[in-house]
Amino acid sequence: MDTPGELNEIVLPQTVVGPLTRSAIFLVLCIPQDEDAYARLRDFCAGLSGLIRAVEFRDVEAGLTCVAGFGSDAWDNLFGAPRPAELHPFRRICSGGRDAVSTPGDIFFHIRAKRPDLCFELATQIMDSIGDIVSVADEVHGFRYFDDRDVIGFVDGTENPRGDAARDTAVVGSEDPAFAGGSYVIVQKYLHDLKAWNSLPVEMQERIIGRRKLSDIELSDAEKPTYAHNALTNIEENGRQLQILRDNMPFGRPGHGEFGTYFIGYSRTPRITETMLENMFVGRPPGNYDRLLDFSRPVTGSLFFVPSATFLDNVTPDAPEDAKAPSAEPPSSPPSPGAVHDTSLKIGSLKGEKDE
Ligand code: HEM
Repeated sequence: MDTPGELNEIVLPQTVVGPLTRSAIFLVLCIPQDEDAYARLRDFCAGLSGLIRAVEFRDVEAGLTCVAGFGSDAWDNLFGAPRPAELHPFRRICSGGRDAVSTPGDIFFHIRAKRPDLCFELATQIMDSIGDIVSVADEVHGFRYFDDRDVIGFVDGTENPRGDAARDTAVVGSEDPAFAGGSYVIVQKYLHDLKAWNSLPVEMQERIIGRRKLSDIELSDAEKPTYAHNALTNIEENGRQLQILRDNMPFGRPGHGEFGTYFIGYSRTPRITETMLENMFVGRPPGNYDRLLDFSRPVTGSLFFVPSATFLDNVTPDAPEDAKAPSAEPPSSPPSPGAVHDTSLKIGSLKGEKDE
């Protein structure tokens, strides 16, 4: 009853759940505080699916997809109320010199395809449309490295949920009916000290990750330390494993000594990814942290809400009512971010969607 699958006929999610691709572009943009810019961006949102289709159709086999997400403040400015129940700015976690930084980001694009040129073309088209009103906070071009390995040499993605489980993991259901079909995404751009990592014996690397390097087989419970990456990111509630959907990508510039992993985790609630981060950075128990962080540090960190495709298609350029200058109220009281002012659907209303 409460699975996103049930809502499938009325709300179409963006392509959060998709096959692993050879290429991806991660684009994080910031928007100015300006009502004209918001109107332009709302107009862009409504046209985004058409833009994606136009580029995708140039080689349908290449499986181009694009997911657009919005940061907490951007949501209020662009769409107003109602807002996704668990949308908030990314919370920095700092412990023992390890720092999961929180960095600016209003709009996020996750562009994936088998061919890098299609990703490139779509990113170009997006910037052609809104490049004059946004500033770029970060842009990363990721590539698939051999058999789905990170630049640290381990296969990444093995324990990802698949099929229905992936959808159930990543897509909001009836727990937040106005935003069913949406998803929360946390991204972090990690840089590795690859020289230091590669100087570790492979057995030590395997204990840090919790899997064999060559075969990708998981270490047995007896072999796996409690600080292993796949131990600390394994969390359970009431005997059930809580999962996220990852599609990490290597990136880098060998000429500049830059080797990185772009972490991306989708989930139907950000709390799961946040708990994993807490375990990695603070430790479980505190102090028993993820040794991968001795060789990797995030230089960005942001949280976005990915509304359904249906929501985006129905956005209109008009300002949301609650964001307009209130006439009966004192002029110096703008809507407080995070406050839910009204539960009825206004701008961004889901046309054709069941209004329950
Ligand atoms: C430096 C960045 C990271 C690297 C290189 C990395 C790499 C890996 C690798 C190699 C695995 C084992 C294969 C697999 O199951 O996919 C793994 C598993 C996993 N990682 Fe990461 N990861 C990174 C960051 C993160 C972050 C930030 C999170 C969550 C906040 C995370 C969550 C997970 C989860 C949930 C698993 C599966 C655990 C299980 O076996 O149940 N990873 N990661």
